[in-house]
Amino acid sequence: MPGGCFRGPAAGDGRLRLARLALVFLGWVSSSSPTFSASSSTSSASSSVSAVSAQPMLPGQCPLPCECSEAARTVKCVNRNLTEVPVDLPPYVRNLFLTGNNLSVLPTGAFARQPPLAELAALNLSGSGIMKVDAGAFEHLPSLRQLDLSHNPLEVLSPIAFSGTNASTSDPSPLMELILNHIVPLGDEKNNRSFEGMVAAALQAGQALRGLHRLELASNHFLYLPRDVLTRLPGLRHLDLRNNSLVSLIYVSFRNLTHLESLHLEDNALKVLHNRTLAELQSLPHVRVFLDNNPWVCDCHMTDMVTWLKETEVVLGKARLTCAFPEKMRDRVLLQLNSSDLNCDPILPQSLQTSYVFLGIVLALIGAIFLLVLYLNRKGIKKWMHNIRDACRDHMEGYHYRYEINADPRLTNLSSNSDV
Ligand SMILES: *[C@@H]1O[C@H](CO)[C@@H](O)[C@H](O)[C@H]1NC(C)=O
Ligand SMILES: *[C@@H]1O[C@H](CO)[C@@H](O)[C@H](O)[C@H]1NC(C)=O
Ligand SMILES: *[C@@H]1O[C@H](CO)[C@@H](O)[C@H](O)[C@H]1NC(C)=O
Ligand SMILES: *[C@@H]1O[C@H](CO)[C@@H](O)[C@H](O)[C@H]1NC(C)=O
Ligand SMILES: *[C@@H]1O[C@H](CO)[C@@H](O)[C@H](O)[C@H]1NC(C)=O
Ligand SMILES: *[C@@H]1O[C@H](CO)[C@@H](O)[C@H](O)[C@H]1NC(C)=O
Ligand SMILES: *[C@@H]1O[C@H](CO)[C@@H](O)[C@H](O)[C@H]1NC(C)=O
Ligand SMILES: *[C@@H]1O[C@H](CO)[C@@H](O)[C@H](O)[C@H]1NC(C)=O
Ligand SMILES: *[C@@H]1O[C@H](CO)[C@@H](O)[C@H](O)[C@H]1NC(C)=O
Repeated sequence: MPGGCFRGPAAGDGRLRLARLALVFLGWVSSSSPTFSASSSTSSASSSVSAVSAQPMLPGQCPLPCECSEAARTVKCVNRNLTEVPVDLPPYVRNLFLTGNNLSVLPTGAFARQPPLAELAALNLSGSGIMKVDAGAFEHLPSLRQLDLSHNPLEVLSPIAFSGTNASTSDPSPLMELILNHIVPLGDEKNNRSFEGMVAAALQAGQALRGLHRLELASNHFLYLPRDVLTRLPGLRHLDLRNNSLVSLIYVSFRNLTHLESLHLEDNALKVLHNRTLAELQSLPHVRVFLDNNPWVCDCHMTDMVTWLKETEVVLGKARLTCAFPEKMRDRVLLQLNSSDLNCDPILPQSLQTSYVFLGIVLALIGAIFLLVLYLNRKGIKKWMHNIRDACRDHMEGYHYRYEINADPRLTNLSSNSDV
């Protein structure tokens, strides 16, 4: 899973020192968590699931289906079929694991408590059956640095899910890491609206996420990146778009992501990168780009990218990139291509071209035969036309004759006399 990679904050400015300390501590907690959960799971295996507590508890106590460690400031309510967030979370909680539950909906203020959970820095909601995240679901969590919503079938993500219900006030969210891997609902392709657009709206709202350092959006079937999805995330250092279905980056701009350090685009459907994208990536001072396992199309449009690849240091593992199309170029290494290799065949494939040529020849033959028949029959046609002309003439002369008879009074008299 992409989430397995290094999550610690990268080198940054002094203002973030406190946050980094929190995250380092968090890293220590999660690395030491296997023993922690092993020791505590036996003790609470018997706790009843139905008793999802709604009664307030004394501070320092632990919600019934959960395991708490005040020393580690950690609460784990893992694989408990919980249908709602426990109300009585202890105020010391810094790391909250609510994974493997059945939460369905995260309502507004799902974690708002009196007094607030002022210490909560890392919230893991992965695999908890969340289908709907309401506006301001993470409100009143002033220290929340890391949020993992992965592996939830998010049918509805409010555009102000991360920014709070006071979207007009551009209060920055404290979030630094937002992990949204595999949040595409099942059968989303049948759905009318754009999943990409829904996620993008939540990432843009009110510039609340301008402090975000890490954004993971892997395995979401993204077909495209909405045009402005990154413009409100100027602090991004790590962007993970692995295992989507991105075909092109032509509409998205990386220009303002001057802090970007890693850009993961492996396992997408990219065919080529165009000049503008290449120039933008080249202009970012710290970035490393990962492009493996894309179906690169090695035709004349690939020339700029190959030229760039040969010179750039930006792409990690660039020697591994190979062509997928056209057929004759399959598995050729991009770096070893010469411009003479990269040409654009006419649009039609060879087989279809020959069949069109054949059709043309057949049509021409038919036309020629038709003309030949006409030529061979020229005497008959001449005769036929003469016949028609004669017939017309006879006919017309008949009319003419009768007209003259009717028009001439003498002849009229004559004829009438002759009747006598
Ligand atoms: C959670 O619910 C599922 C099905 O409803 C059940 O199979 C499983 O045993 C439950 N887990 C716990 C920990 O109660
Ligand atoms: C999750 O909860 C809903 C009711 O809120 C229930 O219908 C469903 O069966 C539960 N799923 C599991 C796997 O327990
Ligand atoms: C959240 O929990 C899941 C399941 O235990 C785990 O795979 C994931 O790495 C956790 N996320 C973070 C950010 O630690
Ligand atoms: C929105 O912000 C204003 C002023 O910052 C505050 O008075 C108001 O209570 C907030 N509303 C909500 C719903 O938080
Ligand atoms: C799809 O969305 C459009 C507007 O966004 C709406 O008019 C249309 O009725 C929707 N179709 C279905 C099948 O929901
Ligand atoms: C890639 O994404 C698909 C669909 O989202 C998922 O089923 C699959 O497990 C992912 N593969 C990896 C290696 O993460
Ligand atoms: C980049 O930032 C500048 C100023 O900070 C802004 O004017 C411009 O619109 C931004 N461009 C993009 C594509 O976000
Ligand atoms: C891309 O840029 C290179 C050099 O900057 C230039 O030679 C080339 O013509 C450009 N390609 C396109 C399609 O504009
Ligand atoms: C590319 O051209 C160079 C010299 O121009 C030649 O040495 C090399 O073999 C060529 N490579 C391919 C794959 O044709």
